[in-house]
This record gives sequence, C-alpha cells and structure tokens, in this order.
Amino acid sequence: MGSHSPRSRANCFPSHLFFLFLLLSTNLLTFLLSTLYNSCSFDTEKPVSESSRIEITASKSATVDEAGADLPPEFVAFAYGQKLPFGFNPRFNSDTLYGPVGRACAFYKEEIREYMTYNINGSCPDDELLEQKLLLKGCEPLPPRRCRPAAASDYKEPVPFPACQWTTPPDSSVVWTAYKCKNYTCLVNRWLFPGSDDCKDCFWLEGRERVRWLPQDSNNGLEFTIDEVLATKKAGTIRIGLDIGGGAGTFAVRMRERNVTVVTTSMNFNAPFNNFIASRGIVPMFITVSQRLPFFDNTLDIVHSMHVISNWIPMTLLQFLIYDIYRVLRPGGLFWLDHFFCRLDQWERGYKPLIQTVGFRKLKWAEGKKLDKPPHEEVYLSALLEKPLKNSW
Ligand SMILES: *[C@@H]1O[C@H](CO)[C@@H](O)[C@H](O)[C@H]1NC(C)=O
Ligand SMILES: *[C@@H]1O[C@H](CO)[C@@H](O)[C@H](O)[C@H]1NC(C)=O
Ligand SMILES: *[C@@H]1O[C@H](CO)[C@@H](O)[C@H](O)[C@H]1NC(C)=O
Repeated sequence: MGSHSPRSRANCFPSHLFFLFLLLSTNLLTFLLSTLYNSCSFDTEKPVSESSRIEITASKSATVDEAGADLPPEFVAFAYGQKLPFGFNPRFNSDTLYGPVGRACAFYKEEIREYMTYNINGSCPDDELLEQKLLLKGCEPLPPRRCRPAAASDYKEPVPFPACQWTTPPDSSVVWTAYKCKNYTCLVNRWLFPGSDDCKDCFWLEGRERVRWLPQDSNNGLEFTIDEVLATKKAGTIRIGLDIGGGAGTFAVRMRERNVTVVTTSMNFNAPFNNFIASRGIVPMFITVSQRLPFFDNTLDIVHSMHVISNWIPMTLLQFLIYDIYRVLRPGGLFWLDHFFCRLDQWERGYKPLIQTVGFRKLKWAEGKKLDKPPHEEVYLSALLEKPLKNSW
C-alpha cells in the first residue's frame, strides 16, 4: 500500500532541479510561443509578450515563497496560483489560475506528501489504495501527477465490441496490487467463499448479472425492470444518463442495448471495477459520491443508483447529492433510486421527508423490508422520480 516501486526510486536525477528546469523551460516555451503566435491570443488587454515576461518572474517567486510550507513542491506547482500566459482574462475575471484540488487535500499533509512525491517524467508509484483513500475522505479532485501510472507490461488490446460486454477481460488489463484477488478467475468465483465484499458476485457474468433489471430477475416489488422504467416516457426520449456507483457496469450495458448512453461511476473497493467497466465497453468515471457531478444543469435524461445512496452517507452530504442529481437532470428527466436503505427509525422522520422534499414527482414508489441481515430493522426504498417538465426551477 502506498509503496513506491523500486523503479520510481531508481530514476534519480534530483527532482527539484529537474522541476526547476521544467518550470524554466515551460515558461521559456510559453514566452517563445506567445511571441511567435501573437494572432491566436485570447481576448486580453495587455500586449502578449509583456504578460508572458511578467509570468516568468511571478510563478518563479510564487513557487519559492510557497514551497517553503510543508506541502510537496509538486502539489504547490499544480495547486497554487499560476499566472495566465496572456494576462488578465475577462472571461475568468482574473489573471491567475489555481489548479483545482479538494480543500481537504491540505488536511492530509502526510498522505499528500507521499502521493505527490515521485520523479517527474518517471514511473508513478503503484499506489492506488492511497489515491482512493484520499478521494474517499474528500481530497477530491486530487492533483494530477507528472509521471506515468502503473500498467501491466503485457497489456493487450480489448476484446472487440460487442463480445466485450459479456466476456471476462484479460488479467493483464489490471494492476492487481491493491486487491486481495490477483486475477479475474478469483473475482469471478469469490461469491462462492465467505467474506463480505461490495458487489461480491458482480464479476460472475453468467450469474445474477445476466438478469438484473430484466423480467427474469427475482422480484419482490423493489426490482423495477429497465423496460418498465423506459416505458414511463415517450420512446427514444431517454438517451443519456448516469449510473452512480454502478458496480460491474451491467446497468449501462443493458441501457446501451436500448440505445441509451450511460456513464458509470465507481470506486475500486477491493476489485478493479473501473477497469472491468471499461473492458465491457462502458465509460467508467472514478469519482466518489461527494464530488459535484461533472455535468451541466438540466442535461441528463436519467440518473440511476443502486445500493450506494443510503444511510452511510452523512445526512447533509446526502441532501447535497440529491439536489445535485436534480440539478443535472433535465426537466422531465428520471431519477431511479434503486434499493435505497436505512434503519427503520431513520426512515419516517429522516430520509423519507428528505427524499420527498426535493421537488421530484413520484412515478413509482415501493417500500420494503431489508431482510439480508438480522435483526431486520432496515427499510428499502425503490423509487422512480421525475423532475417536473414545467416549472422545475
Ligand atoms: C521523459 O521520459 C521519456 C520516457 O522515459 C524519455 O523518452 C524522455 O527523454 C524523458 N524526458 C526528459 C526531459 O527527461
Ligand atoms: C488466480 O489467483 C489465485 C489466487 O488468488 C491463484 O491461486 C490461481 O492460481 C490464479 N489463477 C490463475 C489462472 O492465474
Ligand atoms: C438502436 O438503434 C439502432 C440504430 O439506430 C436501431 O437499429 C435499433 O433498433 C435500436 N434499438 C432499440 C432497442 O431501440
């Protein structure tokens, strides 16, 4: 966990010197380019070459001043203010750009130092667990790094579409360091063995995954089928969407068969979910439920989420999340909250009003008992909610 590969240590041109070199050469390049290509400048009031000259001194001194703090230079280089090459930009209303990182990144100095310490232009440490832990506690977005991520040396081209959707991918498509299983055979079979893992049986594509959201799936009233959900809207009007915490990506695979393009967010909890989703020809997105959804207002036709949005999320954050789902859905768009769960005592006075007050219309609403764990005092909700077509603002 978080260990630096021997390879990344070996490559030993002193990194601060190299960093300075990069900084200078980047600035020099910007300067040369801006002098050569005056005509392609952004709207700017200052002459281009002058603003570039200002930038060289400004960003150098900023780095020296601020790098003295106990944050690693690579963090500072990205996240601290960088002068815009063409000076003040009226569109930004600023002459400075701050690389976006989560506010919480600076709370976790030790881990951020570990994460941002590497050889520039070298191999990144193989430290996926560290990356995920930082994201999960709110260091999101993480700063990018100037190094190459770990990858299998014998990586192969993917299985062609459409066979890839229901084929177990090659083991070499994954870096297994962070997981208990070290190959797909182990993941496919892990439902046979004791132990609790998220989406434990999801890699077994011949099992439950085959029938999820189809009429053949078991049904106790909480399982809506994709076709009954799509039938609530005029044919062809549900075209693009998002699956939050989409596990193996099967929801998006089934939607694709119906000509709906769905992006699937997932973490990699003890398994390479993002690689697996991608191998199936589905777009994976590695963001947590805390991240503001990276879509514009009133754009998506459907947002689905199963088993993820539930009472492990702090109440206030959950409320922000549901409003954010409302934000990205277009008027008339659908929010399919699939198997939300919480304790019975939290339901009536806590979560139920929270979900009901956001402004969605109820198209389907099914409450049930969650029976998988004693003492059976949990509630399930499956709901199909619609953002009003008119007056949704
Ligand atoms: C960066 O790394 C690549 C690949 O190892 C190498 O070809 C290139 O020369 C390096 N660039 C610099 C400036 O060191
Ligand atoms: C897969 O990994 C398991 C241990 O996790 C190992 O016992 C098994 O031999 C591996 N199988 C293949 C096909 O590599
Ligand atoms: C999906 O789109 C293709 C091409 O436009 C069309 O032939 C097919 O019937 C559509 N499938 C469904 C389920 O709508």
